[in-house]
Formats: sequence, C-alpha cells, structure tokens
Amino acid sequence: MATMSMIKMMSVTPSSQQSVSSSTPSSSPPSTSLPIRTIPGSYGWPLLGPISDRLDYFWFQGPETFFRKRIDKHKSTVFRTNVPPSFPFFSGVNPNVVTVLDCKSFAHLFNMEIVEKTDVLVGDFMPSVKFTGNVRTCAYLDTSEPQHAKVKGFALDILKRSSKVWLTELLASLDTLWGTIDKEVSENGSATYLIPLQKCIFTFLTKALIGADPAKSPTIAKSGYAMLDRWLALQLLPTIKIGVLQPLEEIFLHSFSYPSFLVSGDYKQLYDFVKTEGREVLKRGQTEFGLSQEETIHNLLFVLGFNAYGGFSIFLPTLINAIASDTTGLQDKLRVEARQNGGPTLTFDSVKEMPLVQSVVYETLRLNPPVPLQYARARKDFTLSSHDSAYDIKKGELLCGYQPLVMQDPNVFEEPKSFKPDRFTGEGKELLNYLFWSNGPQTGSPTESNKQCAAKDTVTLTASVLVAYLFRRYDSITGTATSITALKRAD
Ligand code: HEM
Repeated sequence: MATMSMIKMMSVTPSSQQSVSSSTPSSSPPSTSLPIRTIPGSYGWPLLGPISDRLDYFWFQGPETFFRKRIDKHKSTVFRTNVPPSFPFFSGVNPNVVTVLDCKSFAHLFNMEIVEKTDVLVGDFMPSVKFTGNVRTCAYLDTSEPQHAKVKGFALDILKRSSKVWLTELLASLDTLWGTIDKEVSENGSATYLIPLQKCIFTFLTKALIGADPAKSPTIAKSGYAMLDRWLALQLLPTIKIGVLQPLEEIFLHSFSYPSFLVSGDYKQLYDFVKTEGREVLKRGQTEFGLSQEETIHNLLFVLGFNAYGGFSIFLPTLINAIASDTTGLQDKLRVEARQNGGPTLTFDSVKEMPLVQSVVYETLRLNPPVPLQYARARKDFTLSSHDSAYDIKKGELLCGYQPLVMQDPNVFEEPKSFKPDRFTGEGKELLNYLFWSNGPQTGSPTESNKQCAAKDTVTLTASVLVAYLFRRYDSITGTATSITALKRAD
C-alpha cells in the first residue's frame, strides 16, 4: 500500500525547530525544501469580511462546504479566513484565523512548544467564566499556567480511580437503557432513544467520575441531564449551526452571547449536589492537587458536564447510527467477534481482543469527530508545513482546524469519505497516528504538559464495550442516530 508506507514516515508532532523537516512524507523532497508560500486568502473589509464569511459559514454553505470551497479556491489547505462569531455584539472577538485542514498542518496544534491554548477552546470567542463560577476551567488553561498541570493531574487521577467502578456503572446503565428501548420497541414498533441515552450517560458518568449517585437528589435524578444540556447550549450557541429557519438563527442564536444567569439556578443545584455528594473526590482535589474547594467543584462540573457528558452525548448516537443503519453485513461480523472473543465478562481488557469492534469505534470518530473545531495560537514565529508547502506564521496568529475535513485527508486515508469498518485493523493500526479526535494522535498520551483529552483511552474503550454489549445482547439492530426501529434479541 503506497499510502501506508508514505504515512508511516510522517511525524505528527513537529517540534519548533523541526516544524518543517520532521513531518515530511518520505515520498516528498526534504521538507526544508518545501516552497515557502504566502498564506492565501484574506480577511476582507473590516466588518464586511467577517459578516460575509459568517453568513457563508452558518447559512449559505454550512461549515463543511465553507472550508471545502475555500480549499478549492486557494488550492491550499492552509489559508486565511474569518470564522464566527462576529458582528454586531462580539466586538472584542477577532474572527481572523489561519486554517490547518490536512493531517500534517493540523498536527501543529498539538505541539505546545510552538502553540499556546489560553482561552481558545472554541476560538477567540470565550463563553463567560460566569458559567463556571468565575473559574477558568482546565480546558481554557495553557500548559504554561501552573494551574493547568494541577487540574489536568486531578482529571487524570479521577479517571484512574474511577476505573474500578466505571465498568460496573456503565453496564448497569446500559441494562437500564436497552431495557427501556426493548420495551418501547415491542410496544410501539420503534423507540426514540436520545433522552434515555442522555439519562444513561449522565447517571453512569456522575457515579463514576464524581462518586455521587444522582438518585440521592430527586431533582438531579430527574433533570440533571437536561440542566447540563441547557448549560452547554447557552455557552456554545454563538459558534454552532443548528439548522433552524434563517434568518432567525442568525438574528437570535448567532448575534450575541447568552447571559449565564439564564442557567444559574440549574448550575447552583448541580454545584450543591457535587459539594454534598462528591465529598471524597473533592477532598482529593484539595489535599492531593492543591486546588481550592471552588476550583475543584467547578472543574469537576466542567469535566462532567462539558468534556464527558457533552462528548459522549454527541459521539454515541453517531456510533449507534453507524452500526444500526449498516446494510453491508457488518453486524454479522461484529456479532461473531463480540461473542467469540474477550471471555464471558465484558471489560476494557476483553474488548482489546476485538479488533473489528475497536476499528468501528475509531472509524466513527474519524468521520464524525465529536469536537469538530480545534484552535491554538502561535506562541512564537514558526514555519508551518502542509503536505506540499510551508508557510510563515507570526506569533499571536490563531490557527483553526476543522477536523471532519482533516480526517478526510487523501494523503493519509484511502477512500477518505467511505466508512470502512476495518480501516484500523492489522496494518491499518498505523493510521491511529493520524486519528486526532482527542486533540492529539490516538497513539499519544494525555499528560499535564499537553492538551490531549484526559480520557482518550477511556472514551474509545467505553464505546467498544457498548458495541460488544449490543452484539452479546442482540443478533441485529436497526435504526438511526435518533431511533431504533427493530431489535432481534440473542437466543
Ligand atoms: C466522547 C467523549 C469525549 C470527547 C469527544 C472529548 C474530546 C476532547 C477534546 C477534543 C479535547 C481538547 C479540546 C481542545 O483543547 O481543543 C478534550 C479535552 C479534555 N477532556 Fe475530553 N472528551 C471526551 C470525554 C472526556 C471525559 C470522559 C473526560 C473525563 C475526565 C474528559 C476530560 C478532558 C479534559 C480534562 C480535557 C482538557 C485537557 C487539557 O486541558 O489539557 N474528556 N476532550
């Protein structure tokens, strides 16, 4: 496979000195000889450029076409453009970015020597810190801030400690979820599952990460997941396309940031719940990681609500859809593997013996990265390379990667638009070096000194357990990202 041997030679983490030379495909000339090109594209007239790009992004084109059309126009995956939000009520937000839309240029976002990540989780726009009790939580901290190492260390510690109960809670929640879906399908012929799924995710994550049982508070048990939905939506609305009637979406959802007081009542209830029921984990945050009580609680809520609940709520429906809508015979292969491999009880170790199950999880993350946009700001001047050119980046410039396109880089992935369930099996495991959903390669390790998702492995193993669970429980599943229309129970 020509592509495979080429990508094997690519490094995805260029260093500051070697940003050009170390990330060169073997079949290209030495990257120091890549032509230095002026970054194509422009930001347009003040106000008019950003507003025109914003309308293209949200209304006339949508994010994917927005970036694709500009790649075609500039014949480059690296170019200047504006991204929303912008005008009229985002006066302090600079919409100017340099895009990085192929695997090689995108990988610069992970190199903390050359980029910094202060307050750029969703771009130059940052939702008010009032959403998180005036605490700048881990995801907004740069690695140069001592607080980042403390909070990231705390997040990694929570995951390590929760591993003892993670599986038990996950399997218990899956039993509840699929029991509900079974009942509804047999009574009504189909089941819409988004709300039961979100309840399941909320319950198991709260128990596993915080060590707190939502059942202890009737309000949290009933509405905790919906409180997080509202809290997430208000923070992210200015940056996401919903697809409701235009121009209403532009006027009401993308023109200003929503105030936090609209969800402060909900947030206070979640805060009180964590403070009362999560005592043990709170104590560790303070004694082992030197965090104040406030920092600990708000970071816990952010990890639970934004990172974990938000991430799984987007990812799992796409995974269920990839499997339940398949008509190519994939389910037969998954069923055989899930039943023959991994021993009688499902664990993180047992799913490691199921290469196809894991590959389906990776392929879903490749084609549907749950966090589509990633940003980082140049810490210093450096040379950024794509597959065919090099570009001078100035300190302070904001880099923007739209991952759904990056993950379709034809220099790395054969038939990049196709869902190939076994893409990441056998020799294809090499491609894990280029699977970037976690803000780093799937072969990398999240640490206190980088910004990779703390739960990189936990997420993929949890999803693999879900897939294996489904094919031990059912012979076949039919449905979409929102509903299940037929289930055949295993005998
Ligand atoms: C499907 C689920 C998840 C997805 C898709 C996801 C995705 C991500 C992404 C893309 C980032 C980097 C954001 C950026 O800087 O651009 C991130 C960071 C992070 N994630 Fe996850 N995540 C998920 C689940 C979790 C879970 C379960 C935890 C629980 C501990 C977690 C903890 C974190 C933390 C603490 C960070 C910040 C890392 C840092 O600042 O160094 N994530 N996640």
